[in-house]
Amino acid sequence: MKLKLFLALILAQITNIITSENDLNENEMWIEQKLDHFNDSDTRTWNMRYLSISSFFKPGGPIIINVNAEWSIAVNSPLCGHYYELIEMFNAYAFQTEHRYYGKSRPVENLRAENLEYLSLKQALADLAHFIRHQKATIPAIANSKVILIGCSYAGSMVTYFRKDYPELIDGGWAAGAALTYTLDYADAMVSAGISLRKIGGDNCYDCVEYFSKTYLKHKKSQDAVYTELNAQNLTEHLDNVDEIIATHVQHRNITTMQSICKNITSIQHNDIHGFGKLLELLYSKIPKVGSKTDLDFAEEHVYRQYFYQTCSEFGNFFTTSSQHQPFGNKAPFSSVIAECKTLFGPKYTIDYISSKVDEINNKYGGREPQVDHIYFTKSQDDPWRWTGIIDECATIIPGIGHCHELRARKTNDSPELMAARQKGFDLIREWINGNGTSRETLTKC
Ligand SMILES: *[C@@H]1O[C@H](CO)[C@@H](O)[C@H](O)[C@H]1NC(C)=O
Ligand SMILES: *[C@@H]1O[C@H](CO)[C@@H](O)[C@H](O)[C@H]1NC(C)=O
Ligand SMILES: *[C@@H]1O[C@H](CO)[C@@H](O)[C@H](O)[C@H]1NC(C)=O
Ligand SMILES: *[C@@H]1O[C@H](CO)[C@@H](O)[C@H](O)[C@H]1NC(C)=O
Ligand SMILES: *[C@@H]1O[C@H](CO)[C@@H](O)[C@H](O)[C@H]1NC(C)=O
Repeated sequence: MKLKLFLALILAQITNIITSENDLNENEMWIEQKLDHFNDSDTRTWNMRYLSISSFFKPGGPIIINVNAEWSIAVNSPLCGHYYELIEMFNAYAFQTEHRYYGKSRPVENLRAENLEYLSLKQALADLAHFIRHQKATIPAIANSKVILIGCSYAGSMVTYFRKDYPELIDGGWAAGAALTYTLDYADAMVSAGISLRKIGGDNCYDCVEYFSKTYLKHKKSQDAVYTELNAQNLTEHLDNVDEIIATHVQHRNITTMQSICKNITSIQHNDIHGFGKLLELLYSKIPKVGSKTDLDFAEEHVYRQYFYQTCSEFGNFFTTSSQHQPFGNKAPFSSVIAECKTLFGPKYTIDYISSKVDEINNKYGGREPQVDHIYFTKSQDDPWRWTGIIDECATIIPGIGHCHELRARKTNDSPELMAARQKGFDLIREWINGNGTSRETLTKC
């Protein structure tokens, strides 16, 4: 079986389109962590990377931690512009943590299947707990500070679960675009991407994508002259990944950019499948590379294998084209997608095993109704991950932006909805820091 060579629809943020204007004194540091936090007789340790900014701190100020997940942390990253704004507004002692097995936080030698055992949500949350206890114990000025966690995407899920597992270590958190419920076949993602295409670009945009996707599959099946020609032009690899390429743009781009992509799609003549392939080639070139699922060596940009392992061993939520109600044709059937777990990580990863793990995490944390307090939930309206998030009644839903854009720096052309969502986050954080965090509507319901 041929494995797909690239991403794209993991939770990670797309990084290449903006540059930082910040010039902060953010320092790279390291903290020793246990390899296995849940086995007292295992004394092995490793060094976790983190970033620290102390220049905004004033006595009495809080600790604010930007939690990172399946990507490499970066100094002055434009992706977390709003974090830099918040730490300044609250005179916070600020940290960014890196997730084990990503970036330079490497607890094991390489990414062979037998080394992935300690890559789990539970261990990552325990790393975070040790991190907070250690900083409070070693920096006297913050020994009694309130603790606020911010995270987007999988890191937002971590913030939510951290509040449930370690409530004594966190006073409040902001979870943006967090997945909270898990299933095996997450076909809704492609359905959602299709709905967004229709909404943003009109029926025409959806219909064009569907027409070209299905036409391509026919040429591929018959291996005819058109297919041979597309192959000679190196366009089949992009046409084979039409679902991931387009859905990745839907996930990460704002509405203006998506409108312009739809304009490009609908300007292609129906007899010009070559032109559609060229457009996919262009769109693919704008997606940052995340390595392949078969990369066995650590590198800062290698995240796909680790994240896919977490998908197989805990999270499920496989993106498939099982539904009829999406525009890409049935090119990624559930059985072929989930079979990659066994191929990559060993015979243990049967559907039954993965299914039991998915049940376990839903039962432990409550799925879309996690019954958690002091967490502010935001979701972007057109994010294909939206349907894995908290129930809509408990979240602030923001139109027009891509996945996690609410945590970027404020801009002059931000929509009123986006500005209001950030203001609400600010107000809640201020309440939690001032010890008055009980007035939230989510306390009883969500
Ligand atoms: C705990 O660690 C010890 C020492 O490394 C090891 O022999 C043992 O198998 C571990 N137990 C479990 C349950 O992993
Ligand atoms: C297609 O890719 C091959 C191998 O990378 C390369 O040699 C060839 O020039 C490419 N063809 C076109 C039309 O770009
Ligand atoms: C949408 O994204 C583009 C490209 O990144 C950017 O130039 C533009 O300002 C964004 N629009 C809004 C309203 O944020
Ligand atoms: C639309 O196509 C033009 C011409 O190829 C290209 O320059 C532009 O970047 C495309 N727009 C988007 C949003 O990809
Ligand atoms: C704390 O919450 C109560 C009840 O909502 C409110 O009356 C009071 O003014 C709040 N105090 C502060 C310091 O915000």
